[in-house]
Amino acid sequence: MKPEVLTTAAEVQARCAGLRRAGKRLALVPTMGFLHEGHLSLMREGGKRAEVVGASIFVNPTQFGPNEDLSRYPRDLEGDLEKCGSAGVQLVYAPLPADVYPEGFQTFVQVEKLELGLCGGKRPGHFRGVATVVAKLFNIFRPDVALFGEKDFQQLRVLQRLALDLNFGIEVVGMPIVREPDGLALSSRNSYLSAEERRRALALSMGLFAARTLFEGGERDASRLRERVRAVLAGAGAREDYVELVDSTSLDPLERVDRAARLLVAAFVGKTRLIDNLALG
Ligand code: PAJ
Repeated sequence: MKPEVLTTAAEVQARCAGLRRAGKRLALVPTMGFLHEGHLSLMREGGKRAEVVGASIFVNPTQFGPNEDLSRYPRDLEGDLEKCGSAGVQLVYAPLPADVYPEGFQTFVQVEKLELGLCGGKRPGHFRGVATVVAKLFNIFRPDVALFGEKDFQQLRVLQRLALDLNFGIEVVGMPIVREPDGLALSSRNSYLSAEERRRALALSMGLFAARTLFEGGERDASRLRERVRAVLAGAGAREDYVELVDSTSLDPLERVDRAARLLVAAFVGKTRLIDNLALG
């Protein structure tokens, strides 16, 4: 069934207040649209954790840098609504930028430390934009639970911290990365890749898997594990943005894998910037 589509925050707030009065548990899945199985896995999980699943489809301008892909970010609202329906979403907020950022808007949310390294270091202001729009979505929907992908691992940690620090009382759930059969992590940005770039893009997941094999063979040294990823990127002609090994909760860099760790990579394939990560330990 096609979901109900609302374009203003006021309508969504009224609709969600009604659901709460009726005693319904609500799950929220924020997205920027051009949906794929990764997004749909979050929506289906939402359906297991709540009676009503809401989603947002909004390409959020404040999380894009001046030289990034805001104007060409892929869009397909009709297709997305179809997919939302098939994944059990009943309510979609699909606003225009002016509804989210009306004239005079000037309040931003910053998760100060978690946003510093990794993608935050390479994309200044990115997580300020993400945290701000998600704080607004949390207030608009007031869900019981919100679901995010581990694909954007730093984003997940930033948003878990945000929910705690600002007392939203929302459970922020992280879900595993959904991959193509050959290992490439699903991403709306994969649509930018030519056939030849699509082959080279495999270097991100292959590099991570190669490092995991080293780890399983007993390697614990961060620089040698990172080096393994770098070698695979270089072999495929993917340009490293970063390769980091961090504590999976604090995101502090590690020299050795002596606790739960996360290995993360960002790289350019042609003009397209892709990210991926996996758990070690
Ligand atoms: P977007 O890139 O559309 O992703 C929406 C959600 O889908 C995020 O939680 C992301 O981690 C998850 N996701 C993307 N690819 C995935 C995959 N291959 N497997 C599992 N989950 C995946 O992330 C954003 O939008 C925005 O920053 C947003 C949170 C909506 C704020 O604007």
